[in-house]
Amino acid sequence: MTRVLITGANGLLGQKLVITFLEDFDVIATAREERSVFQSPRFTYRPLDITNYRQVHDLLEDVRPDVIINAAAYTNVDGCEVEKETCWRANVKAVENLAVIARRIGSKLVHVSTDYIFDGQNGPYDEDARPNPLCYYGKAKLASENAVKKEGIPYIIARTSVVYGVGRQVKKNFFLWLYENLKNGTPIRVVTDQYNTPTLAEDLAEGILQALQSGYEGVVNISGGEFLNRYEMAVQVATYFGFNKEQITPITTDQLNQKATRPLKAGLKIDRAVQTFQFRPRTLTQAMDMMTPYLQEEMA
Ligand SMILES: NC(=O)c1ccc[n+]([C@@H]2O[C@H](COP(=O)([O-])OP(=O)(O)OC[C@H]3O[C@@H](n4cnc5c(N)ncnc54)[C@H](OP(=O)(O)O)[C@@H]3O)[C@@H](O)[C@H]2O)c1
Repeated sequence: MTRVLITGANGLLGQKLVITFLEDFDVIATAREERSVFQSPRFTYRPLDITNYRQVHDLLEDVRPDVIINAAAYTNVDGCEVEKETCWRANVKAVENLAVIARRIGSKLVHVSTDYIFDGQNGPYDEDARPNPLCYYGKAKLASENAVKKEGIPYIIARTSVVYGVGRQVKKNFFLWLYENLKNGTPIRVVTDQYNTPTLAEDLAEGILQALQSGYEGVVNISGGEFLNRYEMAVQVATYFGFNKEQITPITTDQLNQKATRPLKAGLKIDRAVQTFQFRPRTLTQAMDMMTPYLQEEMA
């Protein structure tokens, strides 16, 4: 059975990868915490901080996975602007190390990147568009892509956009932030000028599985297929769940004072994934159909 080691397995994408891969793969889930958020005999769990070179080296030499999927990252975009060193250590240096060790032990490396590597002048972007990151997080993620490419190993760089979903003890992603505030009747301000292609975490995990099974190598966009601004997404969420839309005030990015500059028209074109491995992401409505039963249970 193909052996897959997943980093950041307690994060949103990491959790979905574990669930998606354990049917057909020998899964070794790793995360910083002592324990996995799931207790299951169906996969192995080992604690791993990807910034600890010795730990990473020893575990990979021991496990020798056929595939490493790196779902660990410092994902706080504004945090990266302030804590640059922490961001670089987790998002670049650790990826360089993974790539070097992957070469030594003969593993394929799947790494996850972002539409924030672009400047947002003319998204959505295809895989060949020229990156020009505006914020430190985007710069670091672009540097991590280059670290993977330069090692001469078999790799997949899966670029994605605004990942959302329900998971166990996950950080508040944009969908959960909308859902909780709207449900509680809290007024929110949401930008009308930041466009992305929001991605259900389950679809991203499924797309990564399909890419691997198809033997794909290189960069590929794996995101949702709808090009939406954040306000449009908020209105769709309110409408779907019957929440009061009047709670949502449309604003523009310059009214927000975010630490990190956001690309305004970002988002990704997914034609390559659709054509190469028949990737079919859910619409936001289909995603909400899927998430509804879990919203109470996982957020309790
Ligand atoms: N979320 C988005 O909107 C978005 C958009 C585009 C691309 N991406 C990319 O998608 C990937 C998955 O992100 P996600 O949405 O699943 O975010 P997430 O829920 O924040 O998951 C990231 C996980 O990485 C872990 N991590 C951070 N530093 C680590 C370290 N040194 N060693 C081990 N684990 C570490 C985090 O643990 P802690 O909680 O302990 O820090 C967290 O569990 C990342 O590469 C991200 O850059 C995300």
